[in-house]
Amino acid sequence: MKVEGSGHGMDSPEEEPGTVGVAVIGAGYWGPNLIRNVLSNDRCELRWVCDLDTVRAAKVLGRRSPVRITADVNDVLNDPEVQAVVIATPSSTHRRLGLAALNAGKHVLMEKPLATTVEEGEELVAAAAANNRILMCDFTFCYTPVVQRLRSMINDGDFGELLFIDSTRVNLGLIQNDIDVFWDLGPHDLSILDFILPEENRPISVSASGADPLRSGQACVGFMSLQLGGGAIAHVNLSWLSPTKIRTTVVSGAKRTAIWDDLKVGARLSLYDAGVGMVAYRTGDIVTPAIPEREALGSVINELVTCIETGRTPATDGHAGLRVLRVLEAAGRSVASGSTAIPLEF
Ligand SMILES: NC(=O)c1ccc[n+]([C@@H]2O[C@H](COP(=O)([O-])OP(=O)(O)OC[C@H]3O[C@@H](n4cnc5c(N)ncnc54)[C@H](O)[C@@H]3O)[C@@H](O)[C@H]2O)c1
Repeated sequence: MKVEGSGHGMDSPEEEPGTVGVAVIGAGYWGPNLIRNVLSNDRCELRWVCDLDTVRAAKVLGRRSPVRITADVNDVLNDPEVQAVVIATPSSTHRRLGLAALNAGKHVLMEKPLATTVEEGEELVAAAAANNRILMCDFTFCYTPVVQRLRSMINDGDFGELLFIDSTRVNLGLIQNDIDVFWDLGPHDLSILDFILPEENRPISVSASGADPLRSGQACVGFMSLQLGGGAIAHVNLSWLSPTKIRTTVVSGAKRTAIWDDLKVGARLSLYDAGVGMVAYRTGDIVTPAIPEREALGSVINELVTCIETGRTPATDGHAGLRVLRVLEAAGRSVASGSTAIPLEF
């Protein structure tokens, strides 16, 4: 995978290649997926699972597991054999746990979103730089074969001039009590856009609107329109209130359009060799490329270990996490101001 984003001063490898000692904090809904992928990676040793609910952690690991369980994060941070901490706790805890881990000299893989404000994200990025540690975000979709294909197609100019991107991520619940739908589902689409778009096409402004028709106290439906550098536009439709799950992204260019339906296992990506030019419509073949099916989280853990071993910057580093936070914060300001377009600066 090509590396991008700003470096953070890790010019030379520090760790010897070998087994990387890992701890996972948070064994709720998402943590078990990370735990499974750390356990199945030959280059890692899972040393701890930390959760305030130790019974839950024990259930995830099973009775015969030699992996230690604790409710006290200090057990993890005081273990010199732990090089990397994977944090899969609610986003309100990311800043505190992330800073504690980085300041204890651990590399961090942080679940999305990186933090709950840009300011908190900046603190995490600064702590990673000050401690010369890796700060990586688990932007899981960026590690899927489809998203990697879209990124290389865009970078290779296969779409021609980019016209629009339209992404729908809707399903029923879970209505979260600490974050709204923008902060829950939005990081997926925003991290995908950040990953696939060249720097010159990154969002330059966002306008957003949200609704809470059930009066849950959070926006449960949200729309974001992002003006992209170069003249294209991206639209993101997010909802916890849709009875059917839809995960569809359209990437349209002057030469070609891609439709990614993530629920169509085995045929997720369709490429339409058709478009609309200045003078005429053009129709052509529809191709479904053979794209391997593999679990993205396996690649996430591989990326973490490779970056620890080689000192290179992760493809989804803290700066990528911070760019996503900047859009989310601006989207919140736009909702509050009646959908005004808020300029973005990265
Ligand atoms: N990458 C993805 O596709 C994806 C999918 C779902 C969730 N997530 C992210 O994963 C994170 C966790 O979400 P979830 O749905 O698993 O939440 P959850 O509430 O189901 O689980 C969180 C767990 O963290 C534990 N916990 C809370 N504070 C703790 C602390 N201080 N120390 C130790 N343990 C603590 C809780 O006891 C709980 O078991 C969130 O940031 C969420 O956005 C990512």
